Amino acid sequence: MIKFLDLGKQPLANSFIKSVDLKKKEKKFRLSIAFNKKNYLVSILNTIPKEMMFNEKYPYKSSESNTMKSSFKKLSTKIKKNFDTENILEIGSNDGPFIKNFDKKKIVGIEPCENLAKITRAKGYRTICKYWNIDLAKKISKKKKFKLIYSANTLSHIKDISGIFKAIDIALDDQGILILEDPSLLECLKNNAYDQFYCEHIYVFSTIALKEILKKYDLEIFDVENTKTHGGSNRYYIKKIFNSKIKIKKNVVINLRKERKYGLHKITTYKAFARRVKLSKFKLSKLINKLISKKKIIIGYGATAKSCTVFNYCRFNNKHIKFFYDTTSFKINKFLPGSKIEIKKYKKLTLKDTDYVYLGAWNFQNEIFKKEKKFLNAGGKFITHIPFPRIIGRS
Ligand code: TMP
Repeated sequence: MIKFLDLGKQPLANSFIKSVDLKKKEKKFRLSIAFNKKNYLVSILNTIPKEMMFNEKYPYKSSESNTMKSSFKKLSTKIKKNFDTENILEIGSNDGPFIKNFDKKKIVGIEPCENLAKITRAKGYRTICKYWNIDLAKKISKKKKFKLIYSANTLSHIKDISGIFKAIDIALDDQGILILEDPSLLECLKNNAYDQFYCEHIYVFSTIALKEILKKYDLEIFDVENTKTHGGSNRYYIKKIFNSKIKIKKNVVINLRKERKYGLHKITTYKAFARRVKLSKFKLSKLINKLISKKKIIIGYGATAKSCTVFNYCRFNNKHIKFFYDTTSFKINKFLPGSKIEIKKYKKLTLKDTDYVYLGAWNFQNEIFKKEKKFLNAGGKFITHIPFPRIIGRS
């Protein structure tokens, strides 16, 4: 493992602070990113026990965003058209935007966060509130293996990569399909999106790394789709190696080539990324400090885990950003970890409230810009660091 980036000491990205706890010392850990020369995997170096992050207080709900809901709906239609949906398993079902598109009798959700599992159970979906592992895979697939296993933005959160795929191999039917969806490392590097790294994102996958890892478990990628969610993700379609009925699509080679061409197999590429990240920090700090010196008001939009990485790395606090707006009820009236900036219940933006808006949820820029058209048309401005620090106004 070669360390290439140090994002400093960071609190747990989703541990939002209650006002009574503001004076308490927060637990912090060093956020360093490394590259594995053997299998090309990029991961964070110090990991946090899963129980501290994924528990009954987990604040992130996928259904909060229309972009995500519509992406899951479209995928479900495609799955029904192309694959056997007799029995489906979702690893990391969150509050159910994927499983809700399927027959309750044919789908099972795995969700270790009790608060989220409760939501899908209440709607009649079988939801197992446990962490994904080999024992669980054996138990739930004893009578019948799954024809389709789906997991989005979840496997990158699980440290034991060997356990993940051994368990999948156990639970997946020999003719079954595994579909994985996670942020793309290539897009992360191209966008200088260093905030894809935080305590929960142990890995940011590439096609070349996943191909190497899957080999060990007799699994192989037969198709890759590049999607726009979470700032650019890859959806990998995977089968068992000996299932020769499914042909490998051209897209796989195209993606492998594209990633090699960019240099995702070389440490020099990551070192160059680290240099761009340092420059991004410098430029964003300069931009925000200049606006503050001109007495401009800046608020934040979307108190994301990503904002936690950026704000702690750039050392921003409530002198820089007055408060954040967010739609997630669990986050409202709490404070962002580390920077301790207050999070308020979302209200449509107006020029009366603010001059500039830092786009914390930059991965939902299109959805947000549509919602805030009036603010933009009236001359309202957003600030983003993607792909480089700048001000965005009406186009
Ligand atoms: P994520 O980037 O980790 O998916 O989190 C997105 C956060 O942004 C989540 O807390 C909800 C918030 N959000 C808003 O407040 N307003 C919006 O319009 C959208 C799309 C997201």
